[in-house]
Amino acid sequence: MGCRTNVLHLLSDEAKIRKASPIKTTMKYFTDPNMVFLGAGMPSGDMFPFQNVSFKSVPLDDKGTPVIEGCIDRNVDNLEIENDVPLDLALQYGNSRGQPKLLAFLKEHMSIFHNIASDDWDLITTAGSTQAWDACLRLFCNPGETVLLEDYTYSSSVEAAVAQGLNCVAMEMDSDGIRTDKLEEMLRNWDTETQGPFPKLLYTIPNGHNPTGCTLHEDRKPTLVKLASQYDFVIIEDDPYYFLQMNKYGDPELKMPDDVDEEQWLKENLVDKLGRSLLEWDDFGRVIRLESVSKTFAPGCRLGWAIGPRYLLDHLWNLHEVSMQSTCGFAQTIINGMFQRWGQVGYMRWLLKLRNSYSTKRDFCLSQCQKYLAKSVCTINLPASGMFFMVYLDYRKHPKFSTDFCSDVDLLQEHLYQKFLQSGILMACSSWFRVDPTQKNTLAFRGSYASVDPDKMQRGIELLGSVIQTEFCLN
Ligand SMILES: Cc1ncc(COP(=O)(O)O)c(C=O)c1O
Repeated sequence: MGCRTNVLHLLSDEAKIRKASPIKTTMKYFTDPNMVFLGAGMPSGDMFPFQNVSFKSVPLDDKGTPVIEGCIDRNVDNLEIENDVPLDLALQYGNSRGQPKLLAFLKEHMSIFHNIASDDWDLITTAGSTQAWDACLRLFCNPGETVLLEDYTYSSSVEAAVAQGLNCVAMEMDSDGIRTDKLEEMLRNWDTETQGPFPKLLYTIPNGHNPTGCTLHEDRKPTLVKLASQYDFVIIEDDPYYFLQMNKYGDPELKMPDDVDEEQWLKENLVDKLGRSLLEWDDFGRVIRLESVSKTFAPGCRLGWAIGPRYLLDHLWNLHEVSMQSTCGFAQTIINGMFQRWGQVGYMRWLLKLRNSYSTKRDFCLSQCQKYLAKSVCTINLPASGMFFMVYLDYRKHPKFSTDFCSDVDLLQEHLYQKFLQSGILMACSSWFRVDPTQKNTLAFRGSYASVDPDKMQRGIELLGSVIQTEFCLN
């Protein structure tokens, strides 16, 4: 067991000043029928113009079953099932931590999938990982302070940090994610004169890394958490692709046989096969994990959750109270309605379906890359999770690299990007995701197999291959 210290000293000046709102403490009386609630400025639920919302799911498997349907009324007395959140409650002020019934389902879900080291963890809803990361920056960092990010990373995460006046420092990665040995070396030799203030926050995308597609190796996770304790910083684990950890390349779909104990089978074949969250090693109370339904339901739901030490989430809650107030009531009531009807096992079956569909798409995409992209100049990574693949190009083999492009990788990248566009293919430039703009040592393009159907995928990759052939004079 590590030494569990609190990290209140790492909070930003803003977060240290912010106090819990006294009016918030009254919310626990709101559903008490014996209380005449004169104290809060809420519109009357009777005036909300919605009688109910209804939804119908798609099937959980190829056999077409089960489709679930629900109708959630405004009035608690007209609920189909007890654990629904009635609309007049879901759409009201209050509960900015999240609707208690949804929180209870999510906590049970977390306990099924993760063996969280600490026993004082909690969960609070967010409007998705983008909002939650922005809030974490405000929670811990003052302008000018330092944040560590993987050397290539989700561009919005860097943009949010830069816009808050933060010093973004790149951590070296390889195909197994952050090089923890190099990170340790960097922290040990940190020079505030040249590198800025010592880092307070480390941001990582452990699964299906955006943009590289790599997955953080299990062996590096305990080391990373220990470094946070040793060097006194907090880790934000942004893991929206956790459930897009796929089957092995080329393996058949993972089908649940008939006549098995579903829960047991899903535990052995889904839960136990997934990589672990950093929270599992976090005896030290230094990890906040961000999850989101954007990749498991739909991004427009704008629903996610943060998991971490309760007292830190209290500070996040205080910030939410004065910024977004709460996650959208419609999203909470509908998604909670789906969860309650599916149950934990039904939700796991849905996650299994996602895993199989993404594995099939990934396998097809890679087979096309192997067929059409010239091996003499292209290297393709094999993503084990997520939506992304990277095509790395050997820029030294471009015949005009040192002449027309003055040996500048970014100039060549821009040129190739335009050539791809002219041929009708959009790939994202690796430079858009680069944390340190001076590190121009990689020529790569990010692709995604997530939302492209097989015909278009085949055509797109064939075209990409032919532009590369022409550009690198391989014909
Ligand atoms: C690493 C990462 N974090 C967060 C997001 C956005 O998540 P959300 O929709 O929950 O804000 C993305 C989306 O592309 C992402 O790649």
